[in-house]
Amino acid sequence: MIREEVVVIVGAGQSGLATAACLTVLSVPCLILERDDCIGSLWRNRCYDRVHLHLHKQYSELPHAPYPPSAPAFLSKWDFIRYLDDYAARFCLRVSLRCAVEAAEYDEATGRWRIVARNNAEDGGGVEEYAARYLVVASGENNEAVVPEIPGLEGFDGPIVHSSQFQSGSEFSGKAVLVVGCGNSGMEVALDVAECGARSTCIVVRSQLHIVSREIWAVAMLLMRFLPCRLLDAFILLLCYLKFGDLSKYGLHRPSKGPMYLKKYTPTYPVVDIGTVKKIKSGEIQVVPSIKDIKDNYVTFSNGSRKNFDAIILATGYKSTVKNWLKDDDHIIGEDGMAKQIFPNHWKGKKRLYCAGLARRGIYGSGEDAQSIANDIASDYHSQK
Ligand SMILES: Cc1cc2nc3c(=O)[nH]c(=O)nc-3n(C[C@H](O)[C@H](O)[C@H](O)COP(=O)(O)OP(=O)(O)OC[C@H]3O[C@@H](n4cnc5c(N)ncnc54)[C@H](O)[C@@H]3O)c2cc1C
Ligand SMILES: *[C@@H]1O[C@H](CO)[C@@H](O)[C@H](O)[C@H]1NC(C)=O
Repeated sequence: MIREEVVVIVGAGQSGLATAACLTVLSVPCLILERDDCIGSLWRNRCYDRVHLHLHKQYSELPHAPYPPSAPAFLSKWDFIRYLDDYAARFCLRVSLRCAVEAAEYDEATGRWRIVARNNAEDGGGVEEYAARYLVVASGENNEAVVPEIPGLEGFDGPIVHSSQFQSGSEFSGKAVLVVGCGNSGMEVALDVAECGARSTCIVVRSQLHIVSREIWAVAMLLMRFLPCRLLDAFILLLCYLKFGDLSKYGLHRPSKGPMYLKKYTPTYPVVDIGTVKKIKSGEIQVVPSIKDIKDNYVTFSNGSRKNFDAIILATGYKSTVKNWLKDDDHIIGEDGMAKQIFPNHWKGKKRLYCAGLARRGIYGSGEDAQSIANDIASDYHSQK
């Protein structure tokens, strides 16, 4: 049996939920298919305990749902999960849980997207088929853990944990821990591990990076509309210098382009420091260069030094796996599974295909995409009737 739908949305993260809410407000029926057994599964299941949103609540809300004045300025993971639950309930969103999309293909004859999903319900489930006039890809940037190729990693004699499985640093107290990757996750994981009493904490920093504070970044977001990028970057870097001083002596080097420039034109987002820098300065967290190889418990670094570790945490990011199931698209999703067209024209494809939340623009971007997509679908849908 093929189930007829108007709009099918793949993924019940904030992007999918926001798109569904905007469509509901515009009286367009839609159904969300979600492979996991809950909405907001990234936040619930693959996100360590101490996470707080990096952006001020003003930039972290979804369409039609401002936070109350009583909400904290920087929401915790649980605050945000509760917000998503309320959001889905308020708009009475239809979500089919445990429904993993395995293929989506455009059928020229009927003008419909044919979507095949595996139902992973406990009672056996099976394969379900849907036909929809519109298809929205909202499956997220974080589908699959990226594990780097490090010679000897598989022989390491101790736990190797990806940041998506990392819950809290308390599991590592008394241990010598190596954190690989220096994005926001790596920096925060290293801080958590150090605070929870690891014997030693090292973080591998291979590339140049910008480090800002939450407050500096909040000011930057505020000024973004008023200042040209170059001026704003100069101002941000001045504030960073006043706050952190020169970090290069600790092994942290800034790129030649500014943080706002990089956010705007590349997939790079600055690291928002919540205390790691202080621990790096005090020596509690040590910055180490890239890994050459691993033998037993010994890690050799690119500068020749060698150190013994009990555990390795890989904060090496994720990849999107949309390309595995989405057929008939050569327009909106690139080989990397992310939006192919550049902002602000990244959300609309051909054959009534859309993508939300795949332009590396965070929660704010999810909301903007949702609104654009819903407006576009609604005007087409209502003119068909
Ligand atoms: C630790 C951490 C902290 C972060 N902090 C911030 C922050 O402070 N501010 C910010 O703006 N961003 C932050 N981010 C970025 C965050 O990833 C995105 O903002 C956001 O989660 C993306 O939402 P989404 O709905 O697009 O994707 P997701 O939340 O990943 O949702 C996609 C959903 O699609 C489902 N899905 C995937 N494939 C299929 C399929 N084939 N069939 C059915 N369902 C499928 C997934 O199970 C998932 O539930 C953080 C990310 C991480 C990992
Ligand atoms: C290699 O880098 C580490 C971390 O920065 C440092 O402690 C060590 O002294 C360096 N070793 C050599 C041989 O330069």
